[in-house]
Amino acid sequence: MPLPKRAIAASFLPDRYRYWYSLSKLAMDPLYEAVPGAFADEREPLLDLGCGIGLLLHCLRARGREFPYVGVDTDAVKIDAARAASARGGHASADFQVCDLSVQFPKHEGSVALLDVLQYLPQQAQGTLLSQAAQCVSRHGQLVIRTGLADGTWRGTLTRATDRFGHLVGWMKTSFKSQPSAQELRAVLQRHGLQAEFKPLWGRTPFNNWLVIARRPTSAAA
Ligand SMILES: C[S@@+](CC[C@H](N)C(=O)[O-])C[C@H]1O[C@@H](n2cnc3c(N)ncnc32)[C@H](O)[C@@H]1O
Repeated sequence: MPLPKRAIAASFLPDRYRYWYSLSKLAMDPLYEAVPGAFADEREPLLDLGCGIGLLLHCLRARGREFPYVGVDTDAVKIDAARAASARGGHASADFQVCDLSVQFPKHEGSVALLDVLQYLPQQAQGTLLSQAAQCVSRHGQLVIRTGLADGTWRGTLTRATDRFGHLVGWMKTSFKSQPSAQELRAVLQRHGLQAEFKPLWGRTPFNNWLVIARRPTSAAA
């Protein structure tokens, strides 16, 4: 069954801009089907780092994923919008907090989502944030990342250019800093005992987006 895109977008009314933004994101970006799919067998609490307006929460709940959810983002305006929409959508148990992840990191144990955020941090800060996220992953939890990868492809170049454009025209307050490579990501995750699986997630978009799912190996999780 497809996601109830219009009902989710309607949670952002009366803000027409956020209504159309949500509807078009849900229609075009495979992320919002893929991530609830990755959490199909999950019960661990989820920390959504750089949650934006909290679209992921609505998609998780629409797919029956009822585990506790906390979303954090540095943009206070988006957090206000996320809180209002989650209340309108009937997801009162979710929590949203303003948090600049380059300065502080919330206490958490369970699963973590880090979707389209890494590129807004300088390379060193990316490593720090990945390490902090990895350390939160419980024995049965997972770290789900969506990111562009620096791999020398035309998709990578276009993704970087689009992120820079998004900042120039004001879609994103924070500016594009850097794309990680698959090797860098894998190395940090391995240091924290996580095994990562990489899958392309660009759907019908021209962007170099990858879904990375990192878990503790089964013997460690038993
Ligand atoms: C492209 S949006 C992705 C939103 C959401 N994760 C999603 O996929 O629907 C990137 C988000 O990262 C947030 N962000 C960027 N730098 C951040 C930081 N230092 N701390 C917390 N959030 C940050 C932005 O405010 C923005 O909401």
